[in-house]
Amino acid sequence: MGLLTGKTALITGAARGIGKAIALKFAEEGANIAFTDLVIDENGEATRQEIEAKGVKCVGYASNAADFAQTAEVVEKVHADFGSIDILVNNAGITKDGLMMRMSEQQWDMVINVNLKSAFNFIHACTPIMMRQKAGSIINMASVVGVHGNAGQANYAASKAGMIALAKSIAQELGSRGIRANAIAPGFILTDMTAALSDEVRAEWAKKIPLRRGGTPEDVANIATFLASDMSSYVSGQVIQVDGGMNM
Ligand code: NAI
Repeated sequence: MGLLTGKTALITGAARGIGKAIALKFAEEGANIAFTDLVIDENGEATRQEIEAKGVKCVGYASNAADFAQTAEVVEKVHADFGSIDILVNNAGITKDGLMMRMSEQQWDMVINVNLKSAFNFIHACTPIMMRQKAGSIINMASVVGVHGNAGQANYAASKAGMIALAKSIAQELGSRGIRANAIAPGFILTDMTAALSDEVRAEWAKKIPLRRGGTPEDVANIATFLASDMSSYVSGQVIQVDGGMNM
């Protein structure tokens, strides 16, 4: 028996990167997987097959997590296809970095909508289902910059701070219904999102990390698995930093 056997997990933005690693780890622990991404192309289909090869059911849904109406539809489909939604991971996220003086309204709005409003959309659609089940685990993907701020990422840091406060607020609202909510705050994780950074920037980051390496998507997936499972049945409203000790 895996830690998540018999549970259904819905993970947003999971065609690649951290979301994909979480989906694979959850599947290894026996969860059936519903995942979303903007499109399900060959890469998304390859991800779906990789997850399915773990011996669980897996469906990929094309949807824009920032769109309220589309999200309601997708959640309804997932519920019909799987019969329950026990775990929700709000993982979809983007960066549109720039100093405040040069940041456009569009850069601000896009990051807030994709990173934060998306979580509202999914929580809003999933909580009635979880309330009927009298159980659920919601995980918001935040970031260390949501705790500490970061010059050049005001939009992103604000969206991630919002993800933390959102998790804490729903933890308070829904705890009596058996629903837990927590946030993960990864530090510097090696994915496509950070691959765009220069070698100098990477070297600077590495100096600040006591463990002297960037994290892997699997490092984050391990904590997500803990928060999704009954191993964390008395943990709610928390932020767990997965950052190699960068921020203490
Ligand atoms: P990534 O860029 O490799 O993957 C993000 C996925 O989200 C992609 O598949 C993308 O298509 C999807 N996505 C983007 N917009 C979407 C939308 N509107 N609707 C549905 N899907 C959408 O990024 P990565 O590194 O895997 O990041 C995953 C999460 O972890 C993000 O929320 C990110 O902010 C967060 N994070 C990442 C860190 C890192 O160092 N890589 C550090 C801290 C947090």
